[in-house]
Amino acid sequence: ARIAILISGRGSNMQAFIDACAKGDLQADICLVLSNNPDAAGLGRAAEAGITTVCVNHRDYDSRETFDAALVHALAPYEPDLVILAGFMRILTPVFIEPFAGKLLNIHPSLLPKYPGLHTHQRALDAGDTEAGVTVHYVTPELDGGPPIIQARVPVEAGDTAETLAQRVIVQEHMIYPIAARWQLEGRLQLTATGARLDGETV
Ligand code: GRF
Repeated sequence: ARIAILISGRGSNMQAFIDACAKGDLQADICLVLSNNPDAAGLGRAAEAGITTVCVNHRDYDSRETFDAALVHALAPYEPDLVILAGFMRILTPVFIEPFAGKLLNIHPSLLPKYPGLHTHQRALDAGDTEAGVTVHYVTPELDGGPPIIQARVPVEAGDTAETLAQRVIVQEHMIYPIAARWQLEGRLQLTATGARLDGETV
């Protein structure tokens, strides 16, 4: 199977996929790492791992739709079976989402439906939450609103800052994201009109 990974930054989740493929936990090839940001540190990490990298800079496009069409065009030759958003910091429109519907996953660092959008850890702290976490979900046109597939929870500890909480959460991100991808590639997961299904059961 072929996986394309979209990043904007350091690419630690991308690295978790590289490691999972190397270990055989994920029987797949990463056919492409694409960034909207030419300065993304993850591009260097991917190149070091021998993976093809491409930059499609959103600043070169005058609308979200034209950028999304360029993304579709860039991915098409690689015929990915699965498209992974891993810290990809652009809001996508149906121009990109529809061609990949049902094989497009995102990871979001909150216990969705809590805290879609940015600054999730600070918002959890400000709300006095006793736990935080991360969600892998199918991507639909609703921002961070697609059906959840898997979540991991961590405690909020006394004295936590957004940074210390993020460090606790990211460890879980690197564990659950390749698991969700494996389920998808094994054909165990489906996006349906009523949500995500795993082995035929609603998640
Ligand atoms: C992660 O916290 C992810 O959940 C969020 O952006 C961050 C990306 O980190 N969407 P990295 O680039 O994978 O290290």
